[in-house]
Amino acid sequence: MRHLIDPLDFTQQEISTLLDLADRIHDDPAAYQEVARHKKLATLFYEPSTRTRLSFEAAMLNLGGHVLGFPSENVSSASKGESVADTIRVVSCYADIVAMRHPKEGAPMIASMRSPVPIINAGDGGHNHPTQTLADLLTIQREKGSFENLTIGMCGDLKFGRTVHSLIHAMRRYKGVKFILISPEELKVPEYIIQELDHEGIPYEETTSLEDAMPSLDILYMTRVQQERFFNEADYVRLKDSYILNPDKLETAKKDLCIMHPLPRVNEISVAVDDDPRACYFKQVLNGKYIRI
Ligand code: NCD
Repeated sequence: MRHLIDPLDFTQQEISTLLDLADRIHDDPAAYQEVARHKKLATLFYEPSTRTRLSFEAAMLNLGGHVLGFPSENVSSASKGESVADTIRVVSCYADIVAMRHPKEGAPMIASMRSPVPIINAGDGGHNHPTQTLADLLTIQREKGSFENLTIGMCGDLKFGRTVHSLIHAMRRYKGVKFILISPEELKVPEYIIQELDHEGIPYEETTSLEDAMPSLDILYMTRVQQERFFNEADYVRLKDSYILNPDKLETAKKDLCIMHPLPRVNEISVAVDDDPRACYFKQVLNGKYIRI
């Protein structure tokens, strides 16, 4: 039995096989509609979510299975003080597989150590979000055809954004990848990620200017400032609109730029960008469903 806690739990070959399978499901969903008949997925979400939870649930329903679970900590026994390890042992009596989101880094990993059924990490604090990363990889593969020789701009809250941490973690395995890390000084990527990039000799630049970075980018991954991880509301208010992508800023961008965002968007991408053929963030949502299937 395997769990999915970190995007690197899969080898590059396994990721490639999974992405190809997601493509086949995308082309012929009916062929897979009985695959998980009589199987149950539990979604244990200790942190609010709309799209990720619904994406997991839609995926299981598309496979002919069933779903159960809870959508937030205050409607679960966690609010009575139950440990994640106990919850998982109880839930594994009811479900064949579990998707867990938790505000604490490492909670799904702890759960996996006590769980007799597979655990999928659906986001742990500011750490990893492997199924979002797989959705991102599927989007990159579909839009760019390959993962090699890409200049990837990550923009926004690089300090707290787990989708950013998780995607850098996964993309650094591919040849010729370069990262441009665009954020305010206070929201730079954590030191442990910089050390990993340095250790592996992966090229990266840190900058505060989206405008300077724009012309060189093949992918622009915009992110929301993660309000829920700030200690201080005033800092959030000061930083939340640091970057707002609009059609003017895209004037210097490549014609085949791929604009991504894990969503939810707050102000970081103006709605006027939605009609630009380079906007890929709603395709990314659909890809998320196919990869979770
Ligand atoms: C992201 C998350 O939860 O980390 N959303 C998602 O899963 N699609 C990004 C975010 O909340 O900003």
